[in-house]
Amino acid sequence: MCGIIGYIGHQEAQNILLDGLHRLEYRGYDSAGIVVMHEGELALRKKAGRVPELSQLVAERPVTGTLGIGHTRWATHGEVNDANSHPHFGGEGEVCLVHNGVIENYTSLRDALQEKGYEFKTETDSEAVAHLLAYEYREQLGKNGSVADATSCLNALQATLKQLKGTYGLVVLFRDVPNTMFVARVGSPLVIGIGNKEHFVASDAGPLLGHTDEVVYLSDNELAVITADDLKIVHRDTGAIDPKVQIIEQSDGNADLGDYEHYMLKEIYEQPRAVENALRGRFNDDEATAVFGGLNMTAQQLRRIDRIVLTACGTSWHAGLVGEYLLEEFARVPTEVEYASELRYRNPPMSENTMIFAITQSGETADTLAAMRECKRKGHPTLAICNVVGSTIAREADGGIYLHAGPEIGVASTKAFTSQVTVLTLLALFFGRMRHLSYPAGKRIIRGLQSIPELMEQTLKCHEMVKYVAEKYSEKNNFLYLGRLYNFPVALEGALKLKEISYIHAEGYPAAEMKHGPLALVDKNTPSVFVVPKCGIYPKVISNLEEVKARKGPVIAIACHGDEKIAELADDVIYVPDVEEYLQPLITSIPLQLLSYHIALLRNCNVDRPRNLAKSVTVE
Ligand code: F6R
Repeated sequence: MCGIIGYIGHQEAQNILLDGLHRLEYRGYDSAGIVVMHEGELALRKKAGRVPELSQLVAERPVTGTLGIGHTRWATHGEVNDANSHPHFGGEGEVCLVHNGVIENYTSLRDALQEKGYEFKTETDSEAVAHLLAYEYREQLGKNGSVADATSCLNALQATLKQLKGTYGLVVLFRDVPNTMFVARVGSPLVIGIGNKEHFVASDAGPLLGHTDEVVYLSDNELAVITADDLKIVHRDTGAIDPKVQIIEQSDGNADLGDYEHYMLKEIYEQPRAVENALRGRFNDDEATAVFGGLNMTAQQLRRIDRIVLTACGTSWHAGLVGEYLLEEFARVPTEVEYASELRYRNPPMSENTMIFAITQSGETADTLAAMRECKRKGHPTLAICNVVGSTIAREADGGIYLHAGPEIGVASTKAFTSQVTVLTLLALFFGRMRHLSYPAGKRIIRGLQSIPELMEQTLKCHEMVKYVAEKYSEKNNFLYLGRLYNFPVALEGALKLKEISYIHAEGYPAAEMKHGPLALVDKNTPSVFVVPKCGIYPKVISNLEEVKARKGPVIAIACHGDEKIAELADDVIYVPDVEEYLQPLITSIPLQLLSYHIALLRNCNVDRPRNLAKSVTVE
């Protein structure tokens, strides 16, 4: 949520900043801006709209200079307009910054600064930080005989940070100190790239690829003072610390669109490979179990676990619900999936041997991070199921499992969902084999999982039928998504996908719950998408479907190849391969992803960048 970039070195900053913002745009696309230090002045270009519009503006009015900062915004405080776009200036232009996060006490700071004569030009919380910094900077200059140097700037920054409540990733420039960039973080991710006589700062490692593979992840309460050839890191409480340099992989997936029109479609089609990657090296065939390198717990410790809490948001929560069903079925460990935004403030009883898994694609979701920290603070083993290597959650967890799905750029999560479900199936196998699950049952699960990539390829062949269905129903304004057991989370996920990218109201329900209320919504203009592959309670789901048909509700069924009966009942059927029940979410979610994609296209919606949303939700 909001992307930040900074550059200091010997190259023209403008292009590096714009390219970085382009790669960070999935984090927010309400507005974008850059400031480049040019002949002792801070030259600003900013604009409401997407990064290409900023690039156009910069092409018309280029800025030269080798030090600069940039920002792509997801609005939290203040509407989307040019003025509220970052960077923001403080004082009379002597300070300039970009900010990701939320300053909770900004109104009291703003009131106090206005009393001191500071004039606010925007509605943002970030401008309060800029003015406060200018005020503290002037205070430092007063103490320091007006010597504008990096020490005065650092002192001013530290004095400012002490007064902030909330979260921030900040990159700051001071007009009078033209060769230094200042960085600080609490709660919002920042990574520093180390080049050859140059440094980069970004919200994630994406913009650094191609420039450098040496990075330092800034932790909470750390500040950095960066020049072209020097990097100093200071902890707020303990003073200077040695930067911990890590090497990032340059070929961690492919973030280009290739021949696809949209990232979402590309990522839907990448699912067979993503699942293969999630499975790679994670089977122990001889023992019919799964293997994980990063749980960081002994078999004895794992054996003592008597409860598992999965915590996540959005799509990752839906994957967690599949995980709950799997872990209880195969491992018989009481499991619960908790919304991270609730768990962080709730205080549910947790036994001493409760284990926590935070499930997150980005590894930066603020609520998931806070819930994880709360559980960690209480002393529970807290692990992450995460896609983005080096993300905050991945780094702070006691251990974890990476998805290896490659970059997911489309705001609507697709391949991360199926990769998370794959990893959770492996986890259920692993815990199951430590407990009640027999050797043959373990073998069967392994064989089932190994068959999934090929079955996903076959599933993708439903694409033409999905297009036809999308055309038939794209003008409807309400949809119901219904499924039972393992397909109930799939129904929730299908409804979320439709809502977020096509702005159509959609509800996911357990099919049998319809008669307890939602059936009242059914009429000839409200299609119901029934996820009804072959399963132990297939006849029961069919009864639920007939209840909808009896009320003249159009029915779209997701059913298994060879199910002829369904064709007589449903208005339209999208066929998918038959798999064992516990593997069905990996298959049945695919037509629902494609359906939302095509309906959104037909309604002229921006599939990869839906309105009001951003990929990485780093604010509460
Ligand atoms: C929906 C979607 C969101 C995310 C949620 C959690 O398509 O992408 O609901 O799943 O914001 O994000 P992560 O998994 O990054 O923690």
